[in-house]
Amino acid sequence: MEFTKSFDTQVNKLSEEEQVVFKAALKAVENSYSPYSYFKVGAALLLKNGETILGSNQENVAYPSGLCAERTALFSYGSSGIKSPIKILAIIAFDKDQTQSDTCSPCGSCRQVMLEYEQIQKTPYKVLFCYDGKIEILKSSAELLPYAFHF
Ligand code: THU
Repeated sequence: MEFTKSFDTQVNKLSEEEQVVFKAALKAVENSYSPYSYFKVGAALLLKNGETILGSNQENVAYPSGLCAERTALFSYGSSGIKSPIKILAIIAFDKDQTQSDTCSPCGSCRQVMLEYEQIQKTPYKVLFCYDGKIEILKSSAELLPYAFHF
């Protein structure tokens, strides 16, 4: 898998750690299991200690049993017991024709999970993704979920 030219140009203008996390997300795409949608999604977390945690969408013949890349990465992080906080989450996707998708914005369920991991660590983390061909850089996952559910 390779970044599209336009995406690559934009990535080269990012900070070093932002580039690292997008490249990790590209690696994660390779492990996508998506024989039903043919839409491959890769997510990567960069932690404060420099570690990266990868996730990719994992589908299933019983469709609702599958899971998005973002939650795969976050649950892998949560269940690993690693205590170093998340600094950045990056997401990229590839279409059926193997070209990079110009949009890959986290779904509603992922936003809810992303927010809770941010609240647990009490420090915002950046979220990087593509929307209409442009890299969006959010300072906090909370920006993606106003009026979030809580009790
Ligand atoms: N998908 C993700 O991995 N992340 C998202 O935020 C949206 C959708 C996956 C789920 C499914 O495997 C495929 O993309 C098509 O919906």
